[in-house]
Amino acid sequence: MLRPVIRFIKRWLPGRDEVRHPGRFARQSVAMLRREYQGKPLEEELVNPDPILQFESWFEEAMRVIRDDPNAMVVSTVDEQGCPSARTVLLKGFNEEGFIFYTNYESRKGRQILTNPNVALTFHWPDLMRQVCIEGMAGKTPESQSDAYFRSRPAGSRISAAASPQSQVVASRRELEDRVRELEEEYRDLDAIPRPAHWGGYLVRPERIEFWQGRVNRLHDRICYTRKPEGGWEFRRLAP
Ligand SMILES: Cc1cc2nc3c(=O)[nH]c(=O)nc-3n(C[C@H](O)[C@H](O)[C@H](O)COP(=O)(O)O)c2cc1C
Repeated sequence: MLRPVIRFIKRWLPGRDEVRHPGRFARQSVAMLRREYQGKPLEEELVNPDPILQFESWFEEAMRVIRDDPNAMVVSTVDEQGCPSARTVLLKGFNEEGFIFYTNYESRKGRQILTNPNVALTFHWPDLMRQVCIEGMAGKTPESQSDAYFRSRPAGSRISAAASPQSQVVASRRELEDRVRELEEEYRDLDAIPRPAHWGGYLVRPERIEFWQGRVNRLHDRICYTRKPEGGWEFRRLAP
């Protein structure tokens, strides 16, 4: 009776092996991570027929419940060969037109969007057991909008955006810090730092938006909206 209990405890306690190889415990136990999802039902009768309004109500809940970065989303892009890459950015606005984020247009993602504007955005809100997957085309926001957002950022963030050749190899952190210092000296009035031409927003105009709600026994709810050719949206339930 006692032996299986001891075996169980040993499996979970870091042993000598764990001390010698930190991280091995994680490797061995990752498959055992498991939780039940018991989210609120996502019913056809309850969802908003407009996916942007549906997103708005989920995002409002995410802002209330998720402590840090409820607006963090993964942006996936593809290169000329069709190879995908993905990274996290922050959503900075959304409306009936689409979803907005800001970045460096000459970054890896920026160069990929230039050759192929098809992107995917993925939000994951673990505390709500929810995911939203958006697919659409990215286009640059008007310069006036990028200017306004750039001006609203703290001075330190503005300098870093101007100093950092995002995605390029740099010799050292020192090189970046030196560039920041140069800019600080050049612009004694930090409010005068202009938005670099290669920095600005993208608006992702959605064609497909899927709402995923974790439910009991992995029988999750998925409601997927697609844009109708004649305008407006239709939605369907997808199997989990
Ligand atoms: C929580 C979080 C938020 C981020 N927000 C942004 C953002 O809004 N804009 C951005 O360009 N990079 C952001 N980053 C950094 C990107 O993930 C990425 O490293 C950077 O954009 C370069 O990506 P790329 O080389 O694929 O173009 C964020 C990273 C994290 C973890």
